[in-house]
Amino acid sequence: MLRIGLLTSGGDCQALNATMRGIVKTIIRQSKGPVEIYGFLDGYHGLIHSKFLQMTWADFSNIHTQGGTILGTSRTPFKLLDTPEADGVNKVAAMKQTYYKLQIDCLFMLGGNGSTKTANRLREEGLNVIALPKTIDNDTWGTDITFGFTSAIDVATTFIDEIKTTASSHGRVFVIEIMGHRVGWIPLHAGVAGGADVILLPEIPYEMKNVIEAIERREAAGGRFAIVAVAEGAISKKEAALPKKEYKKIVAERKYSVAYDIANEIAERTGREVRVGVPGHTQRGGAPDAQDRIFAVQCGVEAARGCLEGTYGFMVAKVNNKMCRVPLKEVAGKLKYVDPKSDLVREAKFMGISFGDE
Ligand code: F6P
Repeated sequence: MLRIGLLTSGGDCQALNATMRGIVKTIIRQSKGPVEIYGFLDGYHGLIHSKFLQMTWADFSNIHTQGGTILGTSRTPFKLLDTPEADGVNKVAAMKQTYYKLQIDCLFMLGGNGSTKTANRLREEGLNVIALPKTIDNDTWGTDITFGFTSAIDVATTFIDEIKTTASSHGRVFVIEIMGHRVGWIPLHAGVAGGADVILLPEIPYEMKNVIEAIERREAAGGRFAIVAVAEGAISKKEAALPKKEYKKIVAERKYSVAYDIANEIAERTGREVRVGVPGHTQRGGAPDAQDRIFAVQCGVEAARGCLEGTYGFMVAKVNNKMCRVPLKEVAGKLKYVDPKSDLVREAKFMGISFGDE
């Protein structure tokens, strides 16, 4: 008998179900004996409070087109892992208790950075854990790509495309806020795909005078409208030079978000009509695109193979187009940032897209 547990943790994304299907189908197809499947509800919460479903092959059949997660998810901040729950429950001890009570052989955890830190902690506590790199943000260290990322790029790109027609009719500047608080993978890719004139990322601090110049350049060249793609975590050079604490205070005191501040400043300094568009959580919504589904299968199969071989404590990854396994202890606590000197940034700059830095 092989007993596996599955959970989805943190912000959801489009290919969670497709990935779980990949794991379960492979395990059932390749396992020598019977398999018991436990699906923990709402992320680590289900493991802590022993809330789970006993599931079968049928639960995972044909779910690869379905967005969200059939198990539900929640955020269990890593920094609060050793803080007892409101009812006094010790989270780590409770997770171990559920795991041992159900005699789980392997726990599959589909999650991003914080969730992977928790998975690593469970590994240190002696549990057999395999992590799968979920997040629209694509900021997981150790893998070139995460599932959810390409679908989110598509949503954000379509949003820019659709704004352009109205922006053009009215001759307006649109500031479009794209997800990414600490990293700018989605705004970079959607900005390039959507033909933004300016892209502002957390990794490349901007100066407003450069942003204004780019907008004016476009106007002088005959462009009726302009698109400024702004990451949630876009940061000015001045802000980047501040001590972290002071910058955090600015962010906390913002009435709305950085996109609105940038839009107001553009309006003041150019006299143009400026509007803000926010695709928000639609970037995590809807069905996964074909690329995410394919990667979901690859992740599911690699994770299942590890389990069947009795190898644990790793995250599945894709590096240089090859599936591989990265030790959880190497992944935990690191982020993968956009390299300001990367090819895509260079190419975008070369064709005239401004990142506000020069
Ligand atoms: O981690 C994915 C993500 O969508 C980020 O891009 C975004 O900054 C954040 O989650 C939003 O979090 P929440 O769903 O808690 O509002």
